[in-house]
Amino acid sequence: MDHPYFRPRRMRRDEFSRRLMRETVLTADDLIYPVFVHELPGRAAVPSMPGVERLSIDELLHVAEQASELRVPALALFPVTAPEAKSLDAAAAWDDDGLCQRAVRALKARFPELGVITDVALDPYTSHGQDGLVDASGYVVNDETVEALVRQALSHARAGSDVVAPSDMMDGRVGAIRAALELDGHIHTRILAYSAKYASSFYGPFRDAVGSAGALGKGNKYTYQMDPANSDEALREIALDLEEGADMVMVKPGLPYLDIVRRVKDEFGVPTFVYQVSGEYAMLKAAAGNGWLDERGCALEALTGIKRAGADGVLTYFALDAARWLREAS
Ligand code: PBG
Repeated sequence: MDHPYFRPRRMRRDEFSRRLMRETVLTADDLIYPVFVHELPGRAAVPSMPGVERLSIDELLHVAEQASELRVPALALFPVTAPEAKSLDAAAAWDDDGLCQRAVRALKARFPELGVITDVALDPYTSHGQDGLVDASGYVVNDETVEALVRQALSHARAGSDVVAPSDMMDGRVGAIRAALELDGHIHTRILAYSAKYASSFYGPFRDAVGSAGALGKGNKYTYQMDPANSDEALREIALDLEEGADMVMVKPGLPYLDIVRRVKDEFGVPTFVYQVSGEYAMLKAAAGNGWLDERGCALEALTGIKRAGADGVLTYFALDAARWLREAS
């Protein structure tokens, strides 16, 4: 038998040459840590997301200290609104003294260098759990919702949020928010647009965490979030958000949508982020908890895969653990 002329295994033989030809390197710089904040004292576990807790503002500051120490660049805040503060008009969303706004002020006062990202959408504040305002038939109305989102985004910016992240999928909201921010003098506030956000079943544990699952009940978000079957439509959504003034775009969820991430990065070459969502985290945690998968290996592999697909960064509930694992390995 002839010798093989090409031996790809040569480069894989030793650690030094594996390191030299490694194309994608995950670092703490690639990670954004989503955190849930509640009005209660202390911490409360989220049963469908082992290792994730709802935090009081004091506890949030402890977590922020860890994130800073681990060089995770930013936190993404998700407030848990008490049921009595929810309403049809979601007015608590733009209360300058609301939980989210207070959390932002506390973070920026203590850790000014740590990036703070706030979610712009009405679902934590509506009594029905939809991301927008509804008409008599229950349909989420676009333009009225955009007005409410603008108020919410302005309130976040006034509190000191570095990045507002509209996750609602209304038409025209990025442009409206951008115009309002400029007019109000918030010229440095970045917009991270949840541009290609799919109507995914993988958001279940998140809705438990923020307490919107009960409110939403059997409702769904099909009239505004994207059909998981579509890919060209994602590119149109991204193009619109960029035209309207987004600084960063996002694809969400992560692993089932890596083809979208690659298309977006190739087509636009803009800062592109991926949300490895609650259901992706829960699956891995459940399998690891049963001893069926190696948590560290699988989590780092998934995050590296997301980066390899074209993401500049990943919102992930593994952010602090991943930053620790990467530090240990270096
Ligand atoms: C709310 C929002 C959701 C997530 C982030 N922002 C849920 C939804 O759209 O129902 C999901 C994040 C996750 O599952 O980790 N607009």
